[in-house]
Amino acid sequence: MTQDTFLTGITTTGTPHIGNYVGAIRPGIEASKDLDTGHFYFLADYHSLAKNEDPDKIGQSTLEIAAAWMALGLDTEHAYFYRQSDIPEILELTWILHGMTAKGLMNRAHSYKASVQANVEGGDKDPDKGVTMALFSYPILMAADILMFKSTKVPVGQDQKQHVEMARDIAQRFNHNYGETFVLPEALIGEDTAVLKGLDGRKMSKSYNNTIPLFAPEKKLRKLIMKIKTNSLEPGEPKDTADSTLFDIYKAFATPAEAAAVAQAFADGIAWGQMKQQLFEYINDHIKPAREEYERLVSDPAVVEAELKKGAERARELSVPYLAQIRDAIGIRKLG
Ligand code: TRP
Repeated sequence: MTQDTFLTGITTTGTPHIGNYVGAIRPGIEASKDLDTGHFYFLADYHSLAKNEDPDKIGQSTLEIAAAWMALGLDTEHAYFYRQSDIPEILELTWILHGMTAKGLMNRAHSYKASVQANVEGGDKDPDKGVTMALFSYPILMAADILMFKSTKVPVGQDQKQHVEMARDIAQRFNHNYGETFVLPEALIGEDTAVLKGLDGRKMSKSYNNTIPLFAPEKKLRKLIMKIKTNSLEPGEPKDTADSTLFDIYKAFATPAEAAAVAQAFADGIAWGQMKQQLFEYINDHIKPAREEYERLVSDPAVVEAELKKGAERARELSVPYLAQIRDAIGIRKLG
């Protein structure tokens, strides 16, 4: 039986928030404790170019995301933990895959279509206004990330599912033309806890500016939790847990028994202010030890850099020989 290889990338924009933690970091660290399966987690820094980020912000985000995974206990002896830009084979493969990718396939990418639609709706003459080639061929870079390490399972949010399917299409086409080379990946979409709501009740996302940073200092964390949107029910009035951002966040951190106790408190009419205070204390206690480690790492970037370097060296033991094989398959060969 062949064992699964899990791989996922984190775009280096922004600081990790509790939605990232619940949806990706915590399940990733948990899953990687299974020593019978392979695990690849990487910082997708070249992907952040599609959005034209401020150069200094990319570095800061890389540091913060890497420090978060390390502080939360990722076992980097087992899991491969690296930065995309440290693996030049990924970019080489990206170009090779360009030759296997129908432009029509990219035209159908949701993220590209959304940009075009925004232009059309905004009455722009050029439907491709502001669309860079990095945005357009973003799914090909992502396919290279995935195929480079023969991953079988790619845990992602619903919004990335189509990209994984595109990677599969591209791999199939390559295999058809040049012989079995790539392993066909499959998207793995998390179910219940995967999507947390943010301060305003919409999906917690950097693009909505409604996030709670995972390692916000205590005071800031309290302040943000106090801002979470509730309704106008008074203390003593029974409250519904369905559609309550406060409850959802609590539940994402708590044990089932603790969540049941909070559900009871809702039914008994707990005041919103008191519930917020309780949520703050709960999360704060939960996160405190990791936060101390995180702060230590962020103030000592050389330690994080060394870890990523080690990860890249291990990953390249795989990518260098594999890319040589791929180049040979397509006819990029030495003469004689
Ligand atoms: N595009 C993904 C996102 O925005 C991040 C990503 C880059 C990724 N490369 C990947 C995810 C490879 C899974 C596999 O969330």
